[in-house]
Amino acid sequence: MNLGLLFFAIFAKVGESAYFPDLEQEKAVLQNKDFVAYAGLHGMNLSIHDVVTPDGWILEVWRVRNMEIFDAEVSSPVILGHGFVGTAFDFIWNLRNESAAFILADSGYDVWLPNWRGNHFSDRILDEGRRRKPTAEEYYRSGWQYMAEFDFPSVIEEVLSTTEQSKIYVAGHSMGGTLMSAFLSTNHTFDGQISHFAALTPVLRFGLDTPKTFLAAVLIGPTVVHYLPTFLFRAIFGRQLLAYPDEDTIAYIRSLVCNAVPLVCHLIVAAAVGRDMQTLRFTDSHINKTRVEVYETEQVGGTGPMAALNFADQRLAIIWSALDFSSSYPQTGFTNTGQYGSETPTQYDFAAIEVPISIFYVYNDPFNGPESAQGVIDTLQPTFSKFIEGDSLSHNDVVLATDSRCYIYNDVVATFDNLENERDEAHRTYRSRVEAHLRELPYEDGCVGKSS
Ligand SMILES: *[C@@H]1O[C@H](CO)[C@@H](O)[C@H](O)[C@H]1NC(C)=O
Ligand SMILES: *[C@@H]1O[C@H](CO)[C@@H](O)[C@H](O)[C@H]1NC(C)=O
Ligand SMILES: *[C@@H]1O[C@H](CO)[C@@H](O)[C@H](O)[C@H]1NC(C)=O
Ligand SMILES: *[C@@H]1O[C@H](CO)[C@@H](O)[C@H](O)[C@H]1NC(C)=O
Repeated sequence: MNLGLLFFAIFAKVGESAYFPDLEQEKAVLQNKDFVAYAGLHGMNLSIHDVVTPDGWILEVWRVRNMEIFDAEVSSPVILGHGFVGTAFDFIWNLRNESAAFILADSGYDVWLPNWRGNHFSDRILDEGRRRKPTAEEYYRSGWQYMAEFDFPSVIEEVLSTTEQSKIYVAGHSMGGTLMSAFLSTNHTFDGQISHFAALTPVLRFGLDTPKTFLAAVLIGPTVVHYLPTFLFRAIFGRQLLAYPDEDTIAYIRSLVCNAVPLVCHLIVAAAVGRDMQTLRFTDSHINKTRVEVYETEQVGGTGPMAALNFADQRLAIIWSALDFSSSYPQTGFTNTGQYGSETPTQYDFAAIEVPISIFYVYNDPFNGPESAQGVIDTLQPTFSKFIEGDSLSHNDVVLATDSRCYIYNDVVATFDNLENERDEAHRTYRSRVEAHLRELPYEDGCVGKSS
């Protein structure tokens, strides 16, 4: 074959793939864990940044930009934080017009996707210049309270210093919303720089309306854990869980856990992966069945199980708090004074958040009861809030679904755009350039008739 023709064929293919990537190519690059190439297939530029927290965790943070429209002067950064057992990949696993990070990048934003401590991208400690596995004690510090105290501000600092921007946006899904709320309610260092906080099904309160399986875990879990012998506590909480569950592992967990403790099975496995545990099929109508193999490469990203205890330990409290090590979990060997510098654990009065917020909840949510969620909205007084019926759009669909932009991300982008337009002439002019760019994208609007 003529070489020129060959190159032409390759480039023609690449050009087309920037909008509609070839599924086989996507699977091939994901096989090699090459997320930079994966983003490239979607016409996006992904770069990887290591951010080291003051307590030594190395966080792998992905930066996603569309270089065709990105402008270092006026592209405002957005930090998008994943939820429990999630990863940065959650925000890029659908098509370019459907994945939150790609939508924002195509809208001219500079998107930063942290992997919180304890997931499989951020599972190393920097120790005298070397990377090593975390110890059990370090995993005891992998709950969301530590992501709030250390991971989130470290990422903000990295973003501000790399981009030299003065204003940023933040958005968190589920636990991502929890830890951002925990930080923003207790530390006001960055209030002046954060233009807006979008909380996407944040988990901030449990009540008697919380769906029963999770309510049971909240009411029973912490007490059971309190009485675990130290060796067992260490075996469960002093490690990472669910890091790379492939087909075989999922089947194994199903047979082991699901037969023994169906409740836990439903809770941890089925809720986390959106599958029917009998058939192992994706049941969710908002998921693109053609892309299941793409989802499977990263659908469960691992976590330190302390993150789960950090939730259950709140029980039915209205004001949440960090774990009380002095009375609740003696197995850790931690004390409140050692962890918090005071006898009482840090309190999180979410009403103390001062940056403007928008809050999105869905009715189909295993963690948030509708009345409790409404209570959160009443307490936080967001500038915008929305309860989504959306054809049973679920807690996890907020990031997984092909059509979550119709219910959520279009509103988020519009909120950010309005604030950008209010800044100055340079930002307004840039917004018009972005609009022209968006008009040229070849996607059909899949949102007709979907928005509430
Ligand atoms: C992403 O953009 C940066 C800055 O222009 C460039 O240096 C880098 O090579 C790009 N990466 C890829 C994978 O294209
Ligand atoms: C708030 O966060 C900043 C950045 O991480 C940190 O330097 C500061 O000590 C924190 N303030 C308080 C009161 O915790
Ligand atoms: C589902 O995924 C396939 C493969 O990536 C893609 O061709 C198709 O357009 C997607 N459908 C929707 C509705 O996003
Ligand atoms: C994304 O684009 C594809 C292809 O044009 C389309 O089928 C799909 O409905 C679009 N998704 C959304 C959420 O608009």
